Amino acid sequence: MSSFAHQLIRWQKQHGRHHLPWQGADAYRVWLSEIMLQQTQVATVIPYYQRFVAAFPDVAALAAASEDDVLAHWSGLGYYARGRNLHKAARIVVEKFDSAFPRKFDDIVELPGVGRSTAAAVCALAYHERRAILDGNVKRVLARYCGIEGWAGDKKVEERLWQQAEALLPESDIATYTQALMDMGATVCTRIKPKCVLCPVQADCVALATDRVAALPTPRPR
Ligand code: ADE
Ligand code: SF4
Repeated sequence: MSSFAHQLIRWQKQHGRHHLPWQGADAYRVWLSEIMLQQTQVATVIPYYQRFVAAFPDVAALAAASEDDVLAHWSGLGYYARGRNLHKAARIVVEKFDSAFPRKFDDIVELPGVGRSTAAAVCALAYHERRAILDGNVKRVLARYCGIEGWAGDKKVEERLWQQAEALLPESDIATYTQALMDMGATVCTRIKPKCVLCPVQADCVALATDRVAALPTPRPR
């Protein structure tokens, strides 16, 4: 296993988040949480998530609800396209997958509102599949750890980040690893003032070794 994965998995056991309400939940709930977490922080999401699953305990209940009811439960989270896509996706799951949340990455990634990283997160967290994620926090961690220069909005740069994300995956413990990467990115390798002294991968971090932590990730050119 890469030292990166090994250190992250070890770190997670002691310092990661362990009592998130969607941890160990079914794929429907993991998907819902990942959509909510796309643009909203964990602390804000938790009460919305709790009310949402109480109202719509499974994908069939979500599909059967009116869009107005779904959006009322979304109200306050912002980015309402997410709520509308969630409802649309639930109706597709009922129609196309007989109300069972899809098991395959290729089917999940086709659902409205689900990109490559979100589909991979669902597969890793709910199905323990060996899949790489690359959300905003992970892009920042990998740009620094691997010393990757260039704006992540550039296709070539993004492709290099995906390659690294895949190369660093562990053989097992994929759910723990995925959560660790998210938690470490949110709490240690933060955008401003990262806590490199507390970082589980500081020994091999290229940005730290080359004094480029503040310069990476490279901002959008202007
Ligand atoms: N951000 C996106 N997904 C997350 C998760 N599962 N836990 C914490 N933060 C996240
Ligand atoms: Fe991020 Fe610092 Fe850790 Fe490098 S050492 S991965 S810059 S927190």
